[in-house]
Amino acid sequence: MYAQMVKTDADRVKSLDEMDPQERAFQQRIDAGEKIEPKEWMPEPYRKTLVRQISQHAHSEVVGQLPEGNWITRAPTLERKAILLAKVQDEAGHGLYLYCAAETLGVSRDDLYEQLLAGRAKYSSIFNYPTLSWADIGAIGWLVDGAAIMNQVQLQKTSYGPYSRAMIRICKEESFHQRQGYDIMMKLCAGTAEQKAMAQDAIDRWWWPSLMMFGPSDDASVHSVQSMAWKIKILSNDELRQRFVDQTVPQAEFIGLKVPDPDLKWNEKRQSYDFGEVDWDEFFQVLAGNGPCNRERMASRTRAWEDGAWFREALTAHADKAAKRKATAPIAAE
Ligand code: 3HC
Repeated sequence: MYAQMVKTDADRVKSLDEMDPQERAFQQRIDAGEKIEPKEWMPEPYRKTLVRQISQHAHSEVVGQLPEGNWITRAPTLERKAILLAKVQDEAGHGLYLYCAAETLGVSRDDLYEQLLAGRAKYSSIFNYPTLSWADIGAIGWLVDGAAIMNQVQLQKTSYGPYSRAMIRICKEESFHQRQGYDIMMKLCAGTAEQKAMAQDAIDRWWWPSLMMFGPSDDASVHSVQSMAWKIKILSNDELRQRFVDQTVPQAEFIGLKVPDPDLKWNEKRQSYDFGEVDWDEFFQVLAGNGPCNRERMASRTRAWEDGAWFREALTAHADKAAKRKATAPIAAE
């Protein structure tokens, strides 16, 4: 299965000599570290790659509210509930910044949403797993937001201005999310044996799906080579995954949790952890719509879109009325 999913395009990028003058000037700006802004010329494949990546990212933020939303009414204390509410609200905000960044590339939010609901756009594989216990909320904050930040800190340096600026704000909020997740895990690990077992069960289920968030291994990644040449991506999928493992294993050890990987071992020579192989068949099954919660997530988003139709219509009608009123209002005397 995995072998069939290996790259189909962009194994190599054009050299500067192979580019036409406009494309070459564009690539030279990227190489010099300049940001590309919305009204400036860009190759069509660069624009399309950005629309794909930014919209998938936006969809991930929005779908990502669902597994945690499941626990808002069941948070163990009022304080935990208020924190979780704020976090889930932040994710909606991240979705909005990202849809706005995508819109600067000439696509409408309605079109992007239509692609998601029709199953033509992806969102992060991680959100197709269920949240079975309160410890899962800790594991999501710590591991899932931790993995997201590992990638997004790099994306602050991405070559497209609006995406890079959205990332700066998102990263500030994500780091709070990561800490609140770790705080939940710390508390559980310092609690009763049953609470500690809940925390261990959560890392057992979320560890591998978190490693999958970084995408297929570099040799199977379709877009990485070109995206890195355009500095849309700064580090490769495997580089980010390795950094995440190196950062997270000591955090697990500090609170007495065991990472569920028998092949995990410190490599003195590389000053990094060696770790086991991700189950890529599982990853591609989730991408194909066969994860534990894919159908449930899409059904929830579709219902939310349909239930919100009256509100979107009311907003548009109100905006039209306000614009008409403004156009016909007498001009105030100086
Ligand atoms: N889940 C779903 N699809 C994934 C995936 C994942 N974890 N990893 C890769 N894919 C998809 C790619 O989108 C691509 O599919 P496509 O051609 O249909 O678009 C295919 O698998 C091949 O992968 P590539 O490595 O070639 O794809 P990319 O170069 O786009 O790299 C990526 C994948 C690293 C996820 C990159 O798109 C990226 O950095 N995206 C921005 C960050 C992002 O989307 N994060 C979502 C995380 S969740 C989040 O931020 C919410 C927070 O609240 C936790």
